[in-house]
Amino acid sequence: MLRSLVIIPPSPPVARTPVAAMNERVNSTLTLETPVQAPPQLRPLYQVDERLAPLYAEIADCPRCPLARTRSRTVPGSGPVDARLMLIGEGPGQREDELGLPFVGRAGQFLDELLASIGFERAEVYIANVVKCRPPGNRDPLPEELAACGDYLERQIEIVDPLVIATLGRFSMARWFADARISRIHGAIASFDGRTVIPMYHPAAALRNPALRDVMKRDFAKLPALLADQAHTPAAALTSSVAEATVPTPEPPAAIAETPRPVPHVFGTPLPRTEAIEETTADEPEWRDPPQERLL
Ligand code: URA
Repeated sequence: MLRSLVIIPPSPPVARTPVAAMNERVNSTLTLETPVQAPPQLRPLYQVDERLAPLYAEIADCPRCPLARTRSRTVPGSGPVDARLMLIGEGPGQREDELGLPFVGRAGQFLDELLASIGFERAEVYIANVVKCRPPGNRDPLPEELAACGDYLERQIEIVDPLVIATLGRFSMARWFADARISRIHGAIASFDGRTVIPMYHPAAALRNPALRDVMKRDFAKLPALLADQAHTPAAALTSSVAEATVPTPEPPAAIAETPRPVPHVFGTPLPRTEAIEETTADEPEWRDPPQERLL
């Protein structure tokens, strides 16, 4: 339930400025009390519950890594604070950087399609990224950037407390499955401290490799059952009944379910970046929208 709203207005991207001036400007957008006109399809996403607002304000002012110097807007996340489903992507692209909202480029368009395929709307789910600022040129986030931002995601998960988390792409997957290959474990269902985590390809991967569209749709099709009665279903039973029935690739769900929950500081240690890059094969193309491509 929304108790008070903080409105982030859509406006032209801020010019590159010194960090302090830029943060002052972004902060001021976070404390506006009155709604500002936004594109109708995005308007609900500007609502931030007061339980998330302090974190969003902190992120808006974040100086923790060099991305603070190159970002326009921070992209903390969007969606209701009491969402049962959380989707976690990688990091903002150009359009996200301009609007301060996650997944508003072409990958976001496909994400909306995936959600619609299971009867969900974007406004029902909480969407976050592992890094809150756009890596210049849409490059991969660096280990130090992931480390700097990791605590924000931890706090988002704690506040939203979703029943189910779907990771989108290998960087968010690494939070729970450090050494996994996405081509092997996508769609597998695991349980960590009573929360279900299901790794999925990044929607942009399907833009570049259309064969992944159906794969992603099949993986998304598992979500309604996980969300339906997950609160009272023992994780082990859930893992065997749902995962065995629907996982299309030869991953072993039981082994995945036993993967120990990573320590909360997993983002504080460098990710296996070289391995992750080597993992990127024909079925796992780069995820990001090309900078020139826009949804809006
Ligand atoms: N846009 C986002 O906000 N996150 C992604 O991971 C990709 C595009």
